[in-house]
Amino acid sequence: MSRVSYVNGQYLAHGQATIHVEDRGFQFADGVYEVWSVFDGRMADFDGHMTRLHRSLTELRIEIPMTREALTQVLKETVRRNRVRNGIVYLQVTRGTARRDHPFPAEGTPPSVVVTARSISADRSEATAKKGVAVVTQPDIRWGRCDIKTVGLLPNVLAKQAARERGAYEAWMVDEMGLVTEGSSTSAWIIDEDGKLRTRDAQANILRGITRAAILKLVEEEGIELDERAFSVEEAKRAKEAFFTAAGAFVMPAVSIDGVKIGNGKPGPITRKLRDLYLDQAKRDAI
Ligand code: PDD
Repeated sequence: MSRVSYVNGQYLAHGQATIHVEDRGFQFADGVYEVWSVFDGRMADFDGHMTRLHRSLTELRIEIPMTREALTQVLKETVRRNRVRNGIVYLQVTRGTARRDHPFPAEGTPPSVVVTARSISADRSEATAKKGVAVVTQPDIRWGRCDIKTVGLLPNVLAKQAARERGAYEAWMVDEMGLVTEGSSTSAWIIDEDGKLRTRDAQANILRGITRAAILKLVEEEGIELDERAFSVEEAKRAKEAFFTAAGAFVMPAVSIDGVKIGNGKPGPITRKLRDLYLDQAKRDAI
């Protein structure tokens, strides 16, 4: 089945779906994005991602490209045209196309909008989660506005590549105090030595993960003890359990950090429970 992508008002064959060479996303990483998980053809955590998109655009003073209703329609239509049952839908909005010059282009320059969708095997994701994955740590070399979901992801790309070259699935980024900030494309969590669930406070310089927010709600409902506070690499290595969350990854157990086994080296019971609870809720509420 051939893929279809949405580019500035048109649904195009994926191979022919292109943007201009002077698109500011391409020239300056002057754009933002969102990723939704798709379950049975429906998008999970829909409002959370939409709200964050709006915030990212507003923070960067990029024009809102279309109404929420129209954008919802484009996202749904892209999922439908690609016949995605389980997978992800990706949206990118940039400050549009203009002659390369650092200041913002003339008022009225329309933002560029790209939407792609692809399938991901639910079975493969489940098989990976059953075994758990390796994480390595990398210095966090990003800018001061990691709360904005920009397409400027070079530090994240380098961290993820370093992980892959060390045989790991994800990189956890570490600040100059030795505290974990977040994963290269995920939010980082541990169950610490005292059995408390720990994740960095979202007021810090990290992305306010939408999956993270959904998990926090479930944690409250389940009465799991939470300490929303940064943890060090050393604390992570001594943790009972570790995991990371994101659209597409859901709740993924980390069973080693820099080669040090976490717990007994198998996914832990709280991680498993949170994954199941999250998947149930996300599937139920998807639209
Ligand atoms: N990444 N932290 C970073 C740096 C991320 O890039 C992401 C998401 C997350 C998790 O956020 P959420 O739960 O809202 O997906 C945390 C997406 C999936 C990506 O870049 O593909």
